[in-house]
Amino acid sequence: MNKKDGDIAILAIESSCDETAAAVVVNGRDVRSNVISSQIALHTLYGGVVPEIASRKHIEKINQVITEAMEEAEASWEDLDAIAVTYGPGLVGALLVGVAEAKAISYARNLPLIGIHHIEGHISANYIENKELEPPFLCLVVSGGHTHLVKVADYGKYEILGRTRDDAAGEAFDKVARAIGLGYPGGPKIEKVSHEGNPHAMEFPRPKIADGPYDFSFSGLKSAVLNYLNSCQMKNIPIVQADVAASFQKAVTDVLIGNAMRAIDEYGMKKFAIAGGVASNGTLREGMRAACEEKGVTFYHPSPIFCTDNAAMIGAAAYYEYKAGVRSGLDLNAVPNLKLGER
Ligand code: KG4
Ligand code: ZN
Repeated sequence: MNKKDGDIAILAIESSCDETAAAVVVNGRDVRSNVISSQIALHTLYGGVVPEIASRKHIEKINQVITEAMEEAEASWEDLDAIAVTYGPGLVGALLVGVAEAKAISYARNLPLIGIHHIEGHISANYIENKELEPPFLCLVVSGGHTHLVKVADYGKYEILGRTRDDAAGEAFDKVARAIGLGYPGGPKIEKVSHEGNPHAMEFPRPKIADGPYDFSFSGLKSAVLNYLNSCQMKNIPIVQADVAASFQKAVTDVLIGNAMRAIDEYGMKKFAIAGGVASNGTLREGMRAACEEKGVTFYHPSPIFCTDNAAMIGAAAYYEYKAGVRSGLDLNAVPNLKLGER
């Protein structure tokens, strides 16, 4: 592998949900390989991720995915300086596969092991294509399992300003998609049909939380959509799928943008980033870009391939933890409800 003196090469592994992924990343921002084996097609049959199937598939795929990542990067084991792995949050059985694999490699190859928080990975995805981005900045993490507004004070230093009280943003996309007959995963499907819909056809609620100015709640919005669908059915009014999708998408993005902009003002942030699966949504990106431009705030977002689950983002996060001296022992375990900033 092409590597200069002092370069730090990390093999990263991600298996927290339904993607088996491995990547080789140099100095946190230079992605030499990024291999992702998605199980989406398998889970589509059941309308969502089935944890037992996810773990089994991770076991079947992980060695092949790592071999491909090493080959694509033209890396030998001697080129590596550390091995990183997502150890939480996520599905325990899925996480365990990656953690066991990383520990085995760490032991066999005598490489330092670094356990990484999945959300820290999502946030760090922004470093890959924005070489100049450095903390402090504000980051909105919106995925299938998380909706967090995070102040990134420094590398590895996070302050959670707001979070969802119920459903995650991606979860709301998935549930509404199912209700209007679009199937799993709902986010990309809602985005696609929304192009033909009117975002102002229905005024769905934009929930606000009185005692948490940066917190989110999406279950009420989801219920409002379900109630609307029920009342249409009872009155025999045909449902215009594209209008419902576009109006729902507009309501979600309005809330996300509103909270993020309030936090930018309150905390005087000059840089703002988005991350996670929902961050690949075009309406959200354009809305955020326009709102940031109005404030003179620089807006960052990863390419879609680095928004959804991948291992390159884990390698990016791991580089800064490595430099800070963070090492995990061979007793590293999967922690399904790991909190950001905890070790
Ligand atoms: O980050 P991710 O791959 O996995 C988690 O850590 O949860 O996010 C997956 C979520 C799913 O809920 C999916 O529906 C949503 O991200 N998603 C989107 C889009 N692409 C993926 N939501 C809205 N618009 C999209 N284009
Ligand atoms: Zn994720």
